[in-house]
Amino acid sequence: MAAVPHHIAIVMDGNGRWATRRFLPRAAGHKKGMDALRACVRHCGERGVKVLTVFAFSSENWSRPADEVSSLMDLLGVALAREVPLLSKEGVRVHFVGDRASLSDKVRAGLAQAEAATAGNDRLTFNVCFNYGGRWDIAQAATRLATEGEAITETSLKRVMALAHVPDPDLVIRTGGERRLSNFLLWQAAYSELYFSDKLWPEFDEAALDEALADYASRERRFGKTSEQVSSTAVA
Ligand code: FPP
Repeated sequence: MAAVPHHIAIVMDGNGRWATRRFLPRAAGHKKGMDALRACVRHCGERGVKVLTVFAFSSENWSRPADEVSSLMDLLGVALAREVPLLSKEGVRVHFVGDRASLSDKVRAGLAQAEAATAGNDRLTFNVCFNYGGRWDIAQAATRLATEGEAITETSLKRVMALAHVPDPDLVIRTGGERRLSNFLLWQAAYSELYFSDKLWPEFDEAALDEALADYASRERRFGKTSEQVSSTAVA
């Protein structure tokens, strides 16, 4: 059995509830969520995970109250200014994945700068999905192929999807108790193992990550084959 997933993707849900339960503004939950994310990147690197992809801001999050959207934009600014240099020191390569067209020029420049500054790192690839949606990704990929006059096939789509630079996720984790994908990696998660945790994202600590990894290690991944076929390939 594959012990450690090469690529983990996470829906970091539950920041708002974490804050509300403590009579704090939702923005405080996102700030605490950022602390949990920083630790998670480090722990994934230590365990040999090579790619981590997180859902930081969905295409649908624009419809949240204006002050919450603005607090998430501010957090992105903090991440770019403070977190990226630290991640870079730890050998992390950062990619931002999503529709940049509706972001400000300043934010777009910041994202490009962070990607350029970490481009030489190869210990862990960290994809931050920001203004991202799985349906947006499939649509943008199909539009691109149509514009280039290329046939739309699984292979050609795969080449122009937003996560073309990494293999599909082996494990998708969602915290916060809900059991759905919410428009995250619709194409790429076709064969991913799914793991749902009732912990709210700010509480998803090192022990919780290890529980998810242990659960993953116990799964049999068949990719459409039978169990017998999988075991005979494993010993061949
Ligand atoms: C979902 O919780 C979480 C988000 C929409 C934002 C996730 C952002 C972070 C963890 C901070 C890192 C941010 C950047 C920009 C790198 P929710 O608010 O839906 O929680 P709820 O379901 O309890 O309301």
